[in-house]
Amino acid sequence: MSEAVTRIVTAPPGLLASLDPLLREWLPRQRWFAGKGRPVTGFTLVEATELLPSTAKLGLYHLLVRAHQPLVPGHSAPEQPGDCYQLLIGVREALPPRLAPALIGHVTSGPLAGRTVYEALHDPRPAELLLEALRTQARIGGLRFDRDPHQEIRAGLVPRLVTAEQSNSSVVYGDTFILKLMRRVVPGINPDLELPLALARVGCPKVPPPTAWMVADVGRSAASAAVTGPADFADEPYVLGVLQPFVQGAADGWELALRELAKGEDFVAEARDLGRATAEVHTALARALPTVTMGHLQLQRTVEGMIERLEAAVQAVPALRPYAPGLHSAFTALGDLAAEGRTWTAQRIHGDLHLGQCLRSPAGDWWLIDFEGEPVRPLAERRMPQPAMKDVAGMLRSFDYAARSVDPPQPDWARTCRAAYCSGYAEAADRDPRTDPVLLRAYETDKAIYEVVYEARHRPDWLPVPMAAVHRLASADPT
Ligand SMILES: Nc1ncnc2c1ncn2[C@@H]1O[C@H](COP(=O)(O)OP(=O)(O)O)[C@@H](O)[C@H]1O
Ligand SMILES: [Mg+2]
Repeated sequence: MSEAVTRIVTAPPGLLASLDPLLREWLPRQRWFAGKGRPVTGFTLVEATELLPSTAKLGLYHLLVRAHQPLVPGHSAPEQPGDCYQLLIGVREALPPRLAPALIGHVTSGPLAGRTVYEALHDPRPAELLLEALRTQARIGGLRFDRDPHQEIRAGLVPRLVTAEQSNSSVVYGDTFILKLMRRVVPGINPDLELPLALARVGCPKVPPPTAWMVADVGRSAASAAVTGPADFADEPYVLGVLQPFVQGAADGWELALRELAKGEDFVAEARDLGRATAEVHTALARALPTVTMGHLQLQRTVEGMIERLEAAVQAVPALRPYAPGLHSAFTALGDLAAEGRTWTAQRIHGDLHLGQCLRSPAGDWWLIDFEGEPVRPLAERRMPQPAMKDVAGMLRSFDYAARSVDPPQPDWARTCRAAYCSGYAEAADRDPRTDPVLLRAYETDKAIYEVVYEARHRPDWLPVPMAAVHRLASADPT
């Protein structure tokens, strides 16, 4: 067996077994843990690398662990191999008080018995080590650190962990770079690296160009093959982190929108600029990566997916029932156009565009970030070309969300933003999203249905926000 197909472990035997009881408690409490509501019943080690020896004052392990969870709560057998998570485990004799929030626990057995383990990203030394590895293009165990040779990384930048609620974890280095460490990882190229690299190649100034990145060459080990099955990507590296320039003094679009709403100000100029920026990114993506024509068959498949999601949502959220026929018509109208021979261009898109994925610099420039797509969807699906309208619909929904999250709701504020965004988009793309209302309505409806299910499950107080959109979109003329 060659090195490339073996599991790479440079950590002592018994390490995971000794951490197991602590991780079972700690992992489900992390905001980025994707398997909420189901207990963790065990772990499989996918990769382990000793970054600093645990015999020293400060030890450091990089781990990729697969958390096993029953598919349905209460059903323990058969145990399902679940998601794979990236962990950076610090090891110390005792934690200084400043690291108390990072505590994972005290190890009672195995190679680390008697030591304290903790989430190492809270600690400057491990964060410095990652930047240094990226800067010097290090290879450590199964970890590979690469960089763009044209961008300079200064040594010694001071790290700080971003404490905002995130689905991943980010470290800012001296206000110069930000390193995003993916938490739930899958083998295969992550669009959050792939798309910004492609955009940098064609010189798109609206997306921070990746400076360096970190991957794990895990190979098709017995462990990974058993859990990924025959998936095409099982042999591919895991993308673990991306370093990019930090946009200094920026605020995200959601924060800005709420600030303007609180002041009673409109957001028209900002929305128009954002429409323009979105169109520029779409144009650049279509130039950098292949586009395809979606014919009847592909459209039909898209429509079927939308209808399936609607049916599942109606089962899950009874409040949707009265709207079901109207919502259904949003999808069948698209299917009808496809049946008449209408085609659409599909291209690589952002995939999860909303105000929180846009940064505005103090100079007034918009930047689009976080090209991972919808993390719950399989990687192969996230990397498929789709109509750019999906992103437009996501952003239009986001204006509506902002305007309805305040008391009293400001539907007119949203209407003017949505119009300005489409105008800005049309200025830069030569294509106004409003001239394709059937496609727009279908994607907005699909998104609103997703939002209803999400809010019903997680934040029932917010349910009226997407329900207002459902009410509008279910009517045949949803202007
Ligand atoms: N290049 C950047 N410059 C400044 N801040 C950034 C940059 N990239 C990300 N951020 C900050 O980090 C947050 C999370 O980044 P994001 O890529 O959306 O991660 P996640 O996948 O966790 O949502 C953003 O909302 C923003 O506040
Ligand atoms: Mg994000």
